[in-house]
Order: sequence, then C-alpha cells, then structure tokens
Amino acid sequence: MLEKIKAIGAEIDAATASDASEVEALRIKYLSKKGIISSLMNDFRTVPAEQKREIGQALNELKTRATERINVLKEACEAGGNAAGSLDLTRTAAPVALGSRHPLSLVREQIIDIFRRLGFTIAEGPEIEDDWHVFESLNFAADHPARDMQDTFFIGRQPDVLLRTHTSSVQTRVMTSQKPPIRIICPGRVYRNEAISARAHCFFHQVEALYIDKNVSFADLRQTLLYFAREMFGPQTDIRLRPSYFPFTEPSAEMDISCDLCGGKGCSFCKGTGWVEILGCGMVDPNVLSACGIDPNEYSGFALGMGIERITNLKYRVKDLRLFSENDVRFLDEFTAAH
Ligand code: DAH
Repeated sequence: MLEKIKAIGAEIDAATASDASEVEALRIKYLSKKGIISSLMNDFRTVPAEQKREIGQALNELKTRATERINVLKEACEAGGNAAGSLDLTRTAAPVALGSRHPLSLVREQIIDIFRRLGFTIAEGPEIEDDWHVFESLNFAADHPARDMQDTFFIGRQPDVLLRTHTSSVQTRVMTSQKPPIRIICPGRVYRNEAISARAHCFFHQVEALYIDKNVSFADLRQTLLYFAREMFGPQTDIRLRPSYFPFTEPSAEMDISCDLCGGKGCSFCKGTGWVEILGCGMVDPNVLSACGIDPNEYSGFALGMGIERITNLKYRVKDLRLFSENDVRFLDEFTAAH
C-alpha cells in the first residue's frame, strides 16, 4: 500500500490543468468522496495494526499534498495562465525612469574629452583663493578694475581671501608646482559679485587650458582652437581671432566661431554678423612665467579660457542663465536624450 501511495503522490505532483474545469476534474479524481484518496482511506481499515501508524501518516500527507497541488493549479488558472507557465516572459519590461545629467556636466565632459585627445590632463585648484593666484601673479595692475569690490567676493574683512573670479588662478598654481612641459585643462566654478539676471550670475563655470613648453607658438594655439571648435560644433565650423586684451597674455585674442544657426550668413542669434564669440586666449605673458619661476627665455606657452554656460547656450540654446541652477526637473528632463 505504501508503494501505491508514493505512486499517486508522484502523479499528483506532475498533474497540470489549463482551465478551471480541468482543475475540478482533478479534484473529483483525487479528493471527492468517491475519489482515489477516499478509497485508499477505506482500504486503510484492512491494514494490519502494526502498519497503521506508518500508512496512516503517509495517507494524511498524500491528502495534504493533493489539496495543496490542486489549490496551486486553481490559483494559476484564475491568474490567467497555467501552472507550467504563469509568467509571460515575452512581455515588454515596464519602463525604468532614468535621470539625466546636468547640461553643464555634459558640456564640461565634452570639452575635457576633446582636450584629453590632445594630451591635456585635468588640474584643479581651490575656489577660495588669495590675491596673488587670482590677480597679482597674472599681471593684474594693483588698480585693475577686476579687483574691485564690485567684481570680487572677498571673504571676511581680509582683502587677501577671496572667491576666485576665473579659473586662470589654476594656471599659476600649476606653474609654481610643476616643471614644463605643462599641458593642463582646468574645469571649475568661479564667482563674481554680479546681480543675478538672465544674462549674468554670481557663479558660473569655466574651463581653462594652458600649454607651456619650448617653442610653443601662436600657430599652435590657433590650430588647437580650430581642432576644438570643429570637434565641439562640427567640421563645417570656421574660427576667427580678434585682437583683445587680457593682463596675463600677450598678444591676446578673442575667438569667434561661425554661427551654426545661419551657417555664417547672419541672423538674429549672431546679430547679423555671422560670428559668435566663444572664448579668450593668448600667449602667456612673460611676466606671468617669471612670476611663477619659469624662464621666459627658455619657455613659451599659450592659454585659453571659456565659460561652460556660454558653450552650453550655443549647443543647446539655453537662453536664461538662471535655469542652470534652479534644478527644475522639467528643464533637466530635456537633456535625457543628450547623453
Ligand atoms: N580668465 C578670463 C576670464 O575670465 C578668460 C581667459 C582669457 C582665460 C584669456 C585665458 C586667456 O586663459 O588666455 O574672463
């Protein structure tokens, strides 16, 4: 009899049903009053006394097993599948909501990536700086307006502790601590004491590049700028350099790129000129090299600096600077596809 109980148990475990009527048929077959288990219970009476205990236990277990199995099959049918395949593995997965990277981070990474391909490595410096690194070493005259209270945030009453107004301060940090050749790119946040509006903010981001070696020339600068502009804005991009003035470069220039909105024909974005300004640059002034302990007779170099907000504005047409720091998810969501 034990053999029989075992065989029926295995049969029940293997039973399947594809709809409710098949489940009911199984219930009748095994669990009804005239079912297999009931008839076994009847046979139980004839079992010799010394086997009653063992067989009785096996019979009870069989009944529980059959009841459970039939319940499982029933639930599976109600859930709309069969016991063997109640999971539909072909169904499309539920969409996972992905965040997006901040547009300034996206553009910063793109800029870094382009310069990295030219052999530049990243350098960083402190946001809280001293006058020497931000102004003095960079050849700013003592009465230069950039040092003025209106431009610079001073910390406490000390005139020597301030928030950097540009990432050019990282240039002098690196020049005083490393020997040429130097080829660095410095991304970072800068601060200026300006009223917040669509076009100005009291903090924004810059990327600075510095290259110092023997025989670095203006031609190297121009070629680097052309490579950068074409990698960043596309191969059709043209550049032009206009003479300018910065205390720390001589000669100095500002770089424009051909307006990618009108292809250089002139539109409202480029104010009809066909060009838009994107950065400042020049050959490192010999005074700056000397101040940092580098012999200007042996070495020369170029530097350039750009605002990340400005480049982002050109790439993604963000018209209002304030959007960058308001953390409005509707704005950030627009960049989910830009990765
Ligand atoms: N530091 C300048 C600024 O904030 C930008 C700049 C101009 C950086 C010319 C340079 C450079 O390295 O050569 O506005």
